Amino acid sequence: MPRPKVFVSRRIPEVGLNAISAECDVDLWPDRLPPPADELKKRAKDCDGLVSLLTDRIDGALLDSAPKLKVVSNYAVGFNNVDVPACTARGVCVGNTPGVLTDATADIAVTLLLTAARRIGESAADAKSGKWLTWEPLGWLGQDLTGRTLGIVGMGRIGFATAKRLHNGWDMKVLYTEQIPRPEAEREFDARRVELDELLRESDFVSVHVDLNSSTKGMFSSEQFAKMKRTAVFVNSARGPLVDQAALAETLRSGTIFAAGLDVTEPEPLPPDHELYKLPNCVIVPHIASATVETRNAMARLCANNLLAGVRGEPLPNWVNPEVADKRR
Ligand code: DGY
Repeated sequence: MPRPKVFVSRRIPEVGLNAISAECDVDLWPDRLPPPADELKKRAKDCDGLVSLLTDRIDGALLDSAPKLKVVSNYAVGFNNVDVPACTARGVCVGNTPGVLTDATADIAVTLLLTAARRIGESAADAKSGKWLTWEPLGWLGQDLTGRTLGIVGMGRIGFATAKRLHNGWDMKVLYTEQIPRPEAEREFDARRVELDELLRESDFVSVHVDLNSSTKGMFSSEQFAKMKRTAVFVNSARGPLVDQAALAETLRSGTIFAAGLDVTEPEPLPPDHELYKLPNCVIVPHIASATVETRNAMARLCANNLLAGVRGEPLPNWVNPEVADKRR
C-alpha cells in the first residue's frame, strides 16, 4: 500500500510534522510566506491530505484540481478560509484545532483590554522617546477594570475563558450575546444574556469572540460603535473582517469610544501606513493570540491527528463536517 501524499503549506511545530511524516510522504512548503494560490493548487494536485493555514484559501477550484484529496486539516480553530460546503460536496473531510488555544487566546484578549485601557502602548512609546517629563497628576489617565461591565460578544470557549479571567480577577459584571443561553456562564459568573444593542450600551469593555461568516462580517460598524460608551474599550481577537475598520478609525479619532485593542485586522498584515496605526488609542498586535510554544505544539498534534485520521478513513478527532462521513472519499 503506497504511503499517503500530503502537502503541508507551512512549517508547523516538529511534533506535528514528525507524526505526519511517520505515515505519509510530506511535501513541505519551506517559505515564511504562504504559497501563492496557483502553487497551492499545483502542490495539492496529487495529494491525499492537505495541512492548510488560515492564510490559504481552500475553495471549489482548488478541490476540483485535487481529485484524490481526502482531508483538509486546518492548523487553526477558525476555518473561514475553507469552503466547508464545497469540501463536503466533494467528500473531503475538514478538521480544525479547537480547545487547545482557548487559554492563550483569552490571555491575549485580556492583555489587549488592559493595554488599551491603561494606555500602555502610547505611554511606553512616549517614555522611550524621551518625552517623559515628570510624574503628572493628569498624565496618562486610563480606565479602571475593577467592578466594571464586560460585554462578551459570542460566549463560546474563548469568550467563556475571557469572561472567567475578568470576572474572577477584576470582579467584572458579565453581559453576553449568544444564540442560545450558556447556563455554565450564568452559573459561574452570573453572566446575563442580552441583545447586542444592550450589550453595547451597558458595557465598559466589549470583547469579540464570534466566528467569521456571512452573517457576522462587518457586524461592528459606525452604528454599533455609536451605541458604546465614550469610555468604552473595544477588543477584537477573533477575525478582522468582523469590523469595519474605517468606521473604527473614525470612532477612535473622534473619541466616540476610548480605545481599541486588535489582534486581528483586514487585511493581514495591515499595511504600515494604515490609519489605525496612526491613532494613539489603538493597539494592534500581529495575530498572535495562539502564539505560545505549548499552544502551537498542541495545535500541531491535533492538526496531525486530524490529518492522519482523514487519510486513514477514520473519524477526525476534531471534525468540522462530520456530515461527510457516509460519502467521504
Ligand atoms: C485560529 O486558530 O483561528 C487563530 O486565529 C490562530 O491563532
